[in-house]
Amino acid sequence: YTVDWDASAAEKGGWDSFMDKEIHEDPAAVQRTLLGRLNKDGDLNLDEVHIDEHDFKAVDKIIVIACGTASYAGMVAKYAIEHWVRIPVEVELAHEFRYRDPILTPRTLVVAISQSGETMDTLMALRHAREQGSKVLAICNTQGASIPRESDAVLYTHAGPEVAVASTKAFVAQITAAYLLGLYLAQVKGAMFRDEIHQVLDSLKQMPAKIQWVIDTQTATIAEAAKRMVDAKSFLFLGRHVGYPVALEGALKLKEIAYTFTEGFAAGELKHGPIALVDEGEPVVFIVPPERGRNVLHAKVISGIEEVKARGAFIIAVAEEGDPDVERYADVVFWRPKAPTLMSPLVDVVPLQLFAMDMANLKGYDVDKPRNLAKSVTVE
Ligand code: AGP
Repeated sequence: YTVDWDASAAEKGGWDSFMDKEIHEDPAAVQRTLLGRLNKDGDLNLDEVHIDEHDFKAVDKIIVIACGTASYAGMVAKYAIEHWVRIPVEVELAHEFRYRDPILTPRTLVVAISQSGETMDTLMALRHAREQGSKVLAICNTQGASIPRESDAVLYTHAGPEVAVASTKAFVAQITAAYLLGLYLAQVKGAMFRDEIHQVLDSLKQMPAKIQWVIDTQTATIAEAAKRMVDAKSFLFLGRHVGYPVALEGALKLKEIAYTFTEGFAAGELKHGPIALVDEGEPVVFIVPPERGRNVLHAKVISGIEEVKARGAFIIAVAEEGDPDVERYADVVFWRPKAPTLMSPLVDVVPLQLFAMDMANLKGYDVDKPRNLAKSVTVE
């Protein structure tokens, strides 16, 4: 008598795939990344980072270097950090940064974001930055990997091991860690009032429950939408502000595991070219900003939806619960609970992760190991 025992199935803990398991760990990834980083007065304590407070105070520019999903986390953080700290934040693909002549000074903080900590492009870029005399801080999910080892400082994301090639829980943890870094800089530089920082931290603490709400209430709608769209040849993803990198990430997820041709754009670019692609039945995914009525971008995105709808597009929207403008135009809606604009990427990406996974499953692909891709890209 033998028992069939599959080690990999056991590690998946009952989930169909590592990707499925890891998407369901999105809330915990955010929560664990926040854990232990606030002192008893509710202020941020990033002593673990080992960069002198004076050096932090002197920082006058941030350059984020990263690839793929990690670079989109960096783009999200740019909107937040520039708003909170009032210093410029550039985000650059590590392989581009490495081979130009970037302007770096000892007051530039280079932030290398990497789940694996072994991405060669990011490692080479960080060496380049250090050779020019800049301090490098790594945001990394893997203890003791090459990128944190070679950096001046490290802020670990505590998403737990990520096995599926498509990055999911690491993305939300990277945004969380980059936000903590931004708020810490605001704290040491006095760029925000203490109360304001506490308020943002409170919103951040509420995000795991909001992500859980999306998983609990939207999974069936998302699965249904995937069934309807499984034969679509291409998708466009559009967003503005922090919704723009979310659109890029949603497009990347779908192309890497469902092998569907996708393009992500800033929604404002529509009339500068991409709208020419819109034809009868073309699926277009819109990330709709929250704060209807208070956020001017909300109206702008809705008018983008109207424009593509008039050309026959099939609209999928990620939007705030009950948004009546979205209800009017969208063919399918993935709802998010109310959240401030800067927090919305943490929830908005989740339905897009699930959607990509469902599409890949329906097509019969291995969602954990997509063709031609490796979990960490250790060659340049
Ligand atoms: C995301 O789903 C990817 N497979 C890929 O873009 C990844 O994010 C990129 O290669 C960077 O990896 P890293 O975070 O391990 O450095």
